[in-house]
Amino acid sequence: MTAKFKNPRAKHNFIGRTCSITGVGSYVPERILTNADLEKMVETSDEWITTRTGIKERRIAAANEFTSDLAAKAAERAMKMAGVTAEQIDLIIVATITPDMPFPNTACLVQQKIGARRIPAFDIEAACSGFIYALEIGQSFITAHTFETVLVIGAEKLSSITNWKDRNTCVLFGDGAGAAILQNRPLSHGLLTTALGADGSKADLLSMPGGGSRCPASPQTIADGLHFLRMDGKETFKNAVQAMCSAANEVLNRCEIDITRIKCVIPHQANRRIINAVGERLGATEDQLFVNLHKYGNTSAASVAIALDEAVTSGKIQRGDLVLIVGFGAGLTWGAAIIEW
Ligand code: UT7
Repeated sequence: MTAKFKNPRAKHNFIGRTCSITGVGSYVPERILTNADLEKMVETSDEWITTRTGIKERRIAAANEFTSDLAAKAAERAMKMAGVTAEQIDLIIVATITPDMPFPNTACLVQQKIGARRIPAFDIEAACSGFIYALEIGQSFITAHTFETVLVIGAEKLSSITNWKDRNTCVLFGDGAGAAILQNRPLSHGLLTTALGADGSKADLLSMPGGGSRCPASPQTIADGLHFLRMDGKETFKNAVQAMCSAANEVLNRCEIDITRIKCVIPHQANRRIINAVGERLGATEDQLFVNLHKYGNTSAASVAIALDEAVTSGKIQRGDLVLIVGFGAGLTWGAAIIEW
């Protein structure tokens, strides 16, 4: 099926858009941390976590398993689906807030792990919106004909910045990675349009203050717990619903596509109540919404990437279907895209 547009101006937006997603893949670590496990670690309950968030369990990477390892495994699966070898990749972009280390970037480490050539490789940091930001950056290189094949990854080891004594945050997050291969395939399926945004005035709502140039690592920053993720949950929640709805409506309007024509809405998997509120405001049915956060919790930049892979591999999305992906995260940042799968 080819997307049909009500007016030529809308159609014009897509002329020259020759970026296809030819493969997706994901990887989550083996170890499962359930709500029952968390009950033994902090004062919480399966009932509270389930009703307030929808999360039942999350994956936790091993001590010797890093963001680049998760990313490389997801990448290899996406390459397999696309039928692409490591030698064919021209660029690697990794979206993450939990790089293996501040530098070198995680994309360089992935380049080495998957055996790619000496191609450009860089990270971007847009928190939970990172994968959508990275898709847009990757597709810009493709449509400009700078590169033929781009590997885009969202990967996180959030367990490494989680304060396991803080019940407000430790029940929410998990580790994992998702990847996509973008290729120049004229007149084929692909990314139709993307809307990105940010609001730095609300940077304090969700952050990890320690370890950067403002609060370099010191015994004091450690004692103060500044190397842990911290969040004002309630305010973040409100902003998430508002920003995700607005970004989703922007891409739908730009394409002149009604929500009923979208086969699958893939929202950032932060909280089932946020997903429900966004779905309701967009007029999406329960059947349209893709949800896997009960299995993985919030995996930040990996969230939409893992969900996209699971939606494809489970057969929920078929070639030609219209898919709406929408994300929100620290920054604040947000983004949405419509993909003709
Ligand atoms: O990925 C980036 C975007 N992230 C998000 O969008 C996350 C947005 N925020 C949320 O998902 C929700 O705000 C949370 C799940 C984090 C919290 O849910 P909430 O309904 O906003 O709860 P709350 O923070 O207002 O806390 C309500 C109560 C508090 O107790 P008091 O003050 O009413 O006595 C908390 O101390 O629940 C308590 N609480 C818990 N109780 C049991 C907080 N965490 C827990 C817990 N177990 N794990």
